[in-house]
Amino acid sequence: MPGGIDPHTHLAMEFMGAETIDDFFSGQAAALAGGTTMHIDFVIPVNGSLSAGYKAYVVKAKRSVMDYGFHMAITKWDETVSREMEVMVKDKGINSFKFFLAYKGSFMINDEFLLEGFKKCKSLGALPMVHAENGDAVYEGQKRMIELGITGPEGHALSRPPVLEGEATGRAIRLAGFVNTPLYVVHVMSIDAMEEVAKARKAGQKVIGEPVVSGLVLNDTVLWDPDFQTAAKFVMSPPIRAPGHGKALQAALSAGVLQVVGTDHCTFNTTQKALGIGDFRKIPNGVNGLEERMHLIWDTMVASGQISVMDFVRVTSTECARFFNIYPRKGAILVGSDADIIILNPNSSFEISSKTHHSRTDTNVYEGRRGKGKVEVTIAGGKIVWENDKLKVIPGSGKYIEMPPFNYLFDGIEKADTNYLSSLRAPVIRSTRIDAN
Ligand code: URP
Ligand code: ZN
Ligand code: ZN
Repeated sequence: MPGGIDPHTHLAMEFMGAETIDDFFSGQAAALAGGTTMHIDFVIPVNGSLSAGYKAYVVKAKRSVMDYGFHMAITKWDETVSREMEVMVKDKGINSFKFFLAYKGSFMINDEFLLEGFKKCKSLGALPMVHAENGDAVYEGQKRMIELGITGPEGHALSRPPVLEGEATGRAIRLAGFVNTPLYVVHVMSIDAMEEVAKARKAGQKVIGEPVVSGLVLNDTVLWDPDFQTAAKFVMSPPIRAPGHGKALQAALSAGVLQVVGTDHCTFNTTQKALGIGDFRKIPNGVNGLEERMHLIWDTMVASGQISVMDFVRVTSTECARFFNIYPRKGAILVGSDADIIILNPNSSFEISSKTHHSRTDTNVYEGRRGKGKVEVTIAGGKIVWENDKLKVIPGSGKYIEMPPFNYLFDGIEKADTNYLSSLRAPVIRSTRIDAN
């Protein structure tokens, strides 16, 4: 099959007073061992500056062992940001921007700036992405929990319930519809958010929904574990939801309501998670998944009969390549494509453990899981990099993949705008003259 493409990772990201323990070397090594041959990471601006953020990530990515691309986060809005977006798209190979509706006081932006960002993305042919939770309401929910004396990891889930994800998802979708731009909703974690995506797609809107592995296969009961560390390792945003949400997301994935599976790989080790002892608001948010994604999706979705092998290739690789406009170089096995290929043996089994995984983190949210379907060989750019449970990687061998704007979701946008304008009735010309009598 074509190697996996993970549309959503955070390697060497500074976040919530810590830096993710997996960098572009260890995170990518883990990815290759799990059959993923390309990932797209989120560049975080430095004090709002996109160019400074881009420069910092070019340095972080120097030790890459596999191909990667960049999305860019937009964490504030002004003329400089608007101009820099253009530079990112035209000169730096970035064709997607993420807007955070949560993380009040750090990454969050308001609706006015979200609209500006959507308009700019549309004009550049770049795909806007949203982290959809209502950040003001989350802030209120957090205060409420602290006032009630709920300071442990369960407070994380209780403070930001599915309704806040549903609200923000619906709002972002409606605003994208108002601007008439395609939209990509990252980490769809709840039925509430998924149903907003479903409703919009049914109405013909170009909305992409990305579930992540943790949301598909885990549930929130772990957040009530009496041991802080056991619970804290599952803290991510939006939160892993109550049993039932994951099953519904699986069904949505198999029905095509959701289109691509990411990981949101964002690992913090036990020491880093301990920053939140006594206050769940300070637990660095994020879980692992880059090495586990292909195995868990195969086992949960294909081995269980929910999707076909062709669907597996589509949701783990091909569709991602198409959304980010690098198909068929990536996401396919064709003459002229990069030779990123995996051999997955459906009859052999995998077992997940922090003792054997390749990530640098000391825990694994999928600890002890076993299943059917194991990636036995990974070939990246024509070279065998994973075979017989051994990695053969060379730091610096990964290539930056430039992603051009105007993916296929933009087809027809201009036509729809023209039709909209001609559907407006001709403006009424009113006389400003006031009759003397
Ligand atoms: O908890 C998460 N998801 N951490 C990474 C940042 C983000 O919101 O994607
Ligand atoms: Zn996010
Ligand atoms: Zn993320």
